[in-house]
Amino acid sequence: YTIDWDASAAEKGGWDSFMDKEIHEDPAAVSNTLLGRYDESGDLDLDEVHIDEDVFRQIDKIIVVACGTASYAGLVAKYAIEHWVRIPVEVELAHEFRYRDPILTPRTLVVAISQSGETMDTLMALRHAREQGSRVLAICNTQGSTIPRESDAVLYTHAGPEVAVASTKAFLAQIVAAYLLGLYLAQVKGTMYRDEIHQTIDNLKDMPAKIQKVLDRQADVINQTAQRMSKARSFLFLGRHVGYPVALEGALKLKEIAYIFTEGFAAGELKHGPIALVEPGEPVVVIVPSARGRNVLHDKVISAIEEVKARGAFTIVVAEEGDPDADRYADVVFWRPPCPTLLSPLVDVVPLQLFALDMARLKGLDVDKPRNLAKSVTVE
Ligand code: AGP
Repeated sequence: YTIDWDASAAEKGGWDSFMDKEIHEDPAAVSNTLLGRYDESGDLDLDEVHIDEDVFRQIDKIIVVACGTASYAGLVAKYAIEHWVRIPVEVELAHEFRYRDPILTPRTLVVAISQSGETMDTLMALRHAREQGSRVLAICNTQGSTIPRESDAVLYTHAGPEVAVASTKAFLAQIVAAYLLGLYLAQVKGTMYRDEIHQTIDNLKDMPAKIQKVLDRQADVINQTAQRMSKARSFLFLGRHVGYPVALEGALKLKEIAYIFTEGFAAGELKHGPIALVEPGEPVVVIVPSARGRNVLHDKVISAIEEVKARGAFTIVVAEEGDPDADRYADVVFWRPPCPTLLSPLVDVVPLQLFALDMARLKGLDVDKPRNLAKSVTVE
């Protein structure tokens, strides 16, 4: 006699897939990763990384090595850290990094980002960096895994275990951890006013509620859009500035679990080639930056929407609540609560995660275990 009990259903805690559950843990991934990383006064406290403040002060370049989603988190962080710390941040796919003779010095900080901590390409890249005399700091979600063990220091993301092959909550936690590192560097190097750092931390603390708002209020329109688009054979994703890596991530999610041909690119590239792909009915997803503060990029992205619409594209945009241009030019809008531009990826990616999930479900696919993929790629 056996009891018919599905252990995995119990672990999903009422959700019908791990991916669904994990997307709904996005807000907690952000708040838990922030927890305990600043003191009462609002100063960053990263003693846990055990690298001397003086060593951090000397860092003159950061190279992020990572693969897939983790590399897009690195790309988001590049925009913030270069702005805050005024040092160059390169983001390199780990498998390309060590074959190109990268310039590494003892003042280079290599940041290896990995959810699993077991990605072989990332591991090999960090080994190479250490052999060349650079320090490696891991941003990792898995305690005691190989990548943090082999690094000089580690800043853990506290997203909780991620089971679905498609990375969701870990992406948000990686951005938060990389931002904490950036703010810490700004603090020790004195490149930002203390008030500015405290304000940014406060803004980060507000993000979980904003993410929750997207999960609660946008799910229906996202689902309806997925139903409308269920037969689409390809999608283009456009973004600029921090919206660019979000576009790459949205495209990756959709190809990975819904098996739809997607390409993400910087909106400014449109006229350099990709616009040739736009034909009547082609779905184009666009991340629109806030218009506040006379953001010139907002108008440029809006004109990219006009360009593709003029050629018959079906436009799905992520835009700030109340943006009249988004309303005017887009076929569908997923609304984002207002937030500072550099923090907007933490909300903008959420509707794209849900959209990929809905598209995959509508096709009857196993969203947690897409074909040909493994959760952690432990071979080169
Ligand atoms: C994301 O949805 C992918 N499954 C994949 O790109 C992943 O992010 C990549 O393999 C890196 O994995 P890691 O973070 O565990 O190193």
